[in-house]
Amino acid sequence: MKFIWRQFCLCIIAWKVWWYFFQEERQVRLCFYRNDKFQSRDSALKKIYRFKNPYRMNKRFLRSMGIQEVDTYGETPLTTLYSIAQQCEITSQDHFIDLGCGRGRGTFFLNDYFGCRTTGIEWNPEFVANAKKIVAADSSHAPKFICTDMLSADLSKATVIYLFGTCLPDPIIEKLAESFARLPDSTKIITVSFPLSDYSKAFKEIKEFTGSFPWGEGSIYLNQKIY
Ligand SMILES: C[S@@+](CC[C@H](N)C(=O)[O-])C[C@H]1O[C@@H](n2cnc3c(N)ncnc32)[C@H](O)[C@@H]1O
Repeated sequence: MKFIWRQFCLCIIAWKVWWYFFQEERQVRLCFYRNDKFQSRDSALKKIYRFKNPYRMNKRFLRSMGIQEVDTYGETPLTTLYSIAQQCEITSQDHFIDLGCGRGRGTFFLNDYFGCRTTGIEWNPEFVANAKKIVAADSSHAPKFICTDMLSADLSKATVIYLFGTCLPDPIIEKLAESFARLPDSTKIITVSFPLSDYSKAFKEIKEFTGSFPWGEGSIYLNQKIY
């Protein structure tokens, strides 16, 4: 009986997740595919990942790095990224850096839809190589993808940094906060799940709002240096 109940609960969860992604993709097509450039890049990205699962790819990569916690991959839904961009007033003048950009869907989206310069930092070489395949066939002002550890990335050109680091260990966030503190005062740092003030006295949150993620509502913080 317990086994049947467990299977039933798993089916309900799987159905809920499937429905969430179905609705999200419907919204993306309805709202954002009017932008031809984004539509063509997003379709190219989907084609690359048609038979590749980024969650499994990331698990494999983390295991190869000897990391214990491997179920940490996730993507910010584009409808949520859109509302983050609105709430944080991201404009075409910005240089947006996605720290840990995954397969780069959000990095492409902000570049195409908001017209800002974007850079994706990611340590999984497979994600970066795939993203670069799309950029290679493209022109100037295209997003940049850099394969490196986020702790050693050059962030000096960023005006906005996005860190969806819900599963990052505390010592990594503390080190990142130290390097954020060396950036210009005006740099906007957007974090999901925690404010930077939990890790460093150099920051205050200037805005807190919620956004939809596959697991539920997540807290999003706009942090800025105290000066
Ligand atoms: C939760 S995903 C977020 C993906 C993307 N930013 C988004 O919001 O859709 C986190 C990503 O950060 C990458 N990552 C984790 N630690 C990293 C590190 N130290 N250096 C570079 N990338 C890292 C992971 O490989 C993963 O792709």
